[in-house]
Amino acid sequence: MIDLRSDTVTKPTPAMRAAIAAAEVGDDERDGDPTMRRLEDRVAALLGKEAALFFPSGVMANQAAVWTQAPRGTEILLDVDAHLVHSEIGGVAALSGVQVLPVHPAGLVMSADDLRAALRPVSRYYPAASLVCVENTHNGAGGVITPLEELEAIRDVAAERGLPVHMDGARLWNASVASGLPLRLIAGCADTVMVAFSKGLGAPIGAALAGSYELIEQAWTARKLFGGAMRQSGILAAAVLYALDNHIDRLADDHANARTLARMVDGAGGATVVQPDTNIVMVDLPTGAASAPVVEAVKDEGVLVAEWSATRIRMVTHLDVSATDAARAGEIVRDALERAR
Ligand SMILES: Cc1ncc(COP(=O)(O)O)c(C=O)c1O
Repeated sequence: MIDLRSDTVTKPTPAMRAAIAAAEVGDDERDGDPTMRRLEDRVAALLGKEAALFFPSGVMANQAAVWTQAPRGTEILLDVDAHLVHSEIGGVAALSGVQVLPVHPAGLVMSADDLRAALRPVSRYYPAASLVCVENTHNGAGGVITPLEELEAIRDVAAERGLPVHMDGARLWNASVASGLPLRLIAGCADTVMVAFSKGLGAPIGAALAGSYELIEQAWTARKLFGGAMRQSGILAAAVLYALDNHIDRLADDHANARTLARMVDGAGGATVVQPDTNIVMVDLPTGAASAPVVEAVKDEGVLVAEWSATRIRMVTHLDVSATDAARAGEIVRDALERAR
């Protein structure tokens, strides 16, 4: 099977498993696991932040970012199609007692102008805004990169209102490799940044939240509260350290494979593709066509794709998809779309 449903499906390579087996470990919650400390220091340095904290998942790290920065009874502003809105089970309401003020972008992703237009006037009758979140790359939009100037403008609009910015950078690695910009430059546009390790980097588990010492100290409490404090977590950190050494530059291959897929599939059977900035290819079906039969048809031929919506299919390239796989999958999906016309 060529599995394009997500970049979360990657399996640890033999070399990564060897790094896991060799990890020096300790009780992370009690004293700080030595390998985990090395990872957290390295991630903080990469992102240009004072500190970083490992989390079992990106969702937990995102939720901790909201919990530490958005007081109860306030609202957070973010793109209507953000992962935090659609895929975190209403966590911001359940865990932090805040509501979402969704921003409807004029383009593919939220701009500074969109944010400015969405902010309510300050009034004793309105909910107070407390936090702005950006997702970079943006999953639901198709792995879209928000340009650095736009991120800076978003940060400036937020700052005018005294609001901190959280960046859901689950795929920030992809944004950095595709744009050629250092991670710390992009991360500099936010107060807290979440990065995920179990997607394009190919580690089995984990994410990190980076920010100031003070915020990360509070995030430690959030992690404990959410049940995410761990013990010999150095076995997880060892996998991530291996991935940081070996799996960042190769993300360029995933981006090239995504472009191959997009080129082969665009226009097939009237479908249109969002031209990929990074490793996610969204395919919109023409009126009258439905995703489910296409997903089933390509599965029968050995390709797994995700039914993103009734009329949108998502394909994601990753460590376990070669250039040959991408070309083969492109043919199979293209033919299925033509047949579905
Ligand atoms: C943009 C984005 N943010 C957050 C997450 C959550 O990460 P995790 O699956 O590690 O909880 C995902 C997962 O796909 C994601 O795509």
